[in-house]
Amino acid sequence: MRTTVGIIGAGPAGLLLARLLHRAGIDSVVLEGRDRAYVEHRQRAGILEQGTVDVLRAVGAGERLDREGLRHDGIELRFDRRRHRVDFPGLTGGRSVWVYAQTEVCKDLVALQLKEGGPLLFGAQALAVQGADGDRPRIPFRYQGREDVLECDYVAGCDGFWGVSRGAVPAALSRTFERTYPYAWLGILADVAPSHDELVYTRHDRGFALLSMRSPSVSRLYLQVPAGTDAEEWSDEEIWDELQRRCETTDGRRLERGRITHKSVTPMRSFVHEPMRHGRLFLAGDAAHIVPPTGAKGLNLAVGDVVTLARALVHEKETGSPDLLDAYSATCLRRVWQAERFSYDMTTLLHPAPDATAFDGRLQQARLERIASSRAAGTDLAEAYTGFPLG
Ligand code: FAD
Ligand code: DHB
Repeated sequence: MRTTVGIIGAGPAGLLLARLLHRAGIDSVVLEGRDRAYVEHRQRAGILEQGTVDVLRAVGAGERLDREGLRHDGIELRFDRRRHRVDFPGLTGGRSVWVYAQTEVCKDLVALQLKEGGPLLFGAQALAVQGADGDRPRIPFRYQGREDVLECDYVAGCDGFWGVSRGAVPAALSRTFERTYPYAWLGILADVAPSHDELVYTRHDRGFALLSMRSPSVSRLYLQVPAGTDAEEWSDEEIWDELQRRCETTDGRRLERGRITHKSVTPMRSFVHEPMRHGRLFLAGDAAHIVPPTGAKGLNLAVGDVVTLARALVHEKETGSPDLLDAYSATCLRRVWQAERFSYDMTTLLHPAPDATAFDGRLQQARLERIASSRAAGTDLAEAYTGFPLG
């Protein structure tokens, strides 16, 4: 099998890259190790930056997003049982974010790809990336019980944190930067209308809590739990009681309860692999970097990477110049590190660590009060949350 760009992974990064290339007349083949249902139903991100929404619209994947997505013009910070709203358009000159789940982004992109894109093979497990530093990289893969090889001009490693692509960069040329956190998120989906019309990020001495949503009738909620927690350790009743306790306010806000339809635990990690390119292999999305979810940046970073990569491949095709491909890693990493910084700040602002002292707690409170009382501090948060410019 042969193509111009071999794409490993059909998460948001791989699917959007295939779509961008298709529209530019560059062919690609997407290899996805899991089945279609897995890609379309894995519960993950919920927040899209304005820039991500603009890209999805531009590639023809905005129709359902415009119908069902919810524009959010702010978030609420809750601390010390008080509520503070951060007004995004007011602080950023008009920017917002959108609630539209990653599952739905993937469904829309898969449908477009199958209808009018190049091959998208589910159940096709890439085994390695070979010859990345030569002219003809190859991806051996297993599909329908047989082994085959995809030969290509370029390889896009969009296979997430646990994929094979990153391992193709020689250890002597790789540098990784990593931090793990002593807590995780227990996330649920519940059949109940959101208790508040915007997202609520709560700092409480018992731990962080986040009230989010998927639609006017489905809530998405998260609780800070110790790293290594098993979701089954928590009964539905205990989850609702704990959410209620952490989100309590002096003005008596109530949390509506409903049937819990999904429960899972997400570990928290910061990770960056440098460089994001080795020869003809380009890493994109979670394959190259991970952020803790508090800043809602992971999917949006993946989108930024593949927009940069598609632009560079088109530039090379049209002008013969590899300049933008050569600049790919440095261009992406500038944005990546800003998102790493913001995600780390949001995480350490809102989560009490297990060994936190009373001093640490007061500092978190003081940082939150600063955001609530200073336009400059509020603007800093709003600019980062709504997204850094692409490229
Ligand atoms: P992935 O989505 O991980 O896709 C990689 C794909 O590659 C997978 O489908 C996998 O099966 C496939 N694959 C792996 N290995 C192989 C192989 N060898 N061969 C073939 N295929 C392979 N981000 C946000 O922007 N906003 C949010 O609000 C947000 N909230 C989050 C909440 C939670 C609870 C979690 C867990 C994450 C959240 N994120 C958020 C992060 C976001 O979900 C990820 O950053 C995003 O999925 C990255 O996309 P990706 O395409 O790079 O990787
Ligand atoms: C959601 C996830 C996040 O990580 C976040 O910061 C906000 C919302 C969500 O799944 O809705």
